[in-house]
Amino acid sequence: MTPEAIARIKASHAAVGAMPRQLASRFYGALFGAAPGLRRLFPEDLTSLQGHFEGALALVVRNLDEVDALRESLRELGASHIHWGARPEDYEVARESLVIAIRSLSPDWSAELDSDWRAAITAIIVPMLEGAAVHTAMAAERLAGEID
Ligand code: HEM
Repeated sequence: MTPEAIARIKASHAAVGAMPRQLASRFYGALFGAAPGLRRLFPEDLTSLQGHFEGALALVVRNLDEVDALRESLRELGASHIHWGARPEDYEVARESLVIAIRSLSPDWSAELDSDWRAAITAIIVPMLEGAAVHTAMAAERLAGEID
């Protein structure tokens, strides 16, 4: 992402983040609207998860200019998501849902912000999926040692 795009994301996030829990609750609303089957993977009470989600997003947005520094943590988060039942295709629904949530809270939405946010969210989900893939590959490797 260009420094200009990162600056636009930070400003947009600061405006949206000024309304705590709004973003997460709209995100989960959009996610479960688009994919009702995912609701059962989550706890009934989403309150603390909403806080975790907003915290994770804020951390990534703050560090967008050095996203490599977060790569390992995001990979670990992705590996944990396997246990919670997230499938690769769910991440695209999640990206769409997050864009919808941010857009719904942004009076100054534009095509540029749309593509900036998509790029930023993609920069989060790629290492998460990589982490899930590495986790799966390691399980395959471990089991492969049991053949012969
Ligand atoms: C933009 C991508 C995503 C981010 C940044 C994200 C972030 C997080 C965070 C920070 C947590 C809390 C971790 C903790 O408590 O330590 C979490 C939990 C969880 N996430 Fe995600 N997530 C993403 C995508 C997804 C997707 C696509 C699914 C699909 C089903 C999903 C399902 C879950 C579930 C089921 C939990 C655990 C709920 C529980 O506590 O039982 N997430 N996520």
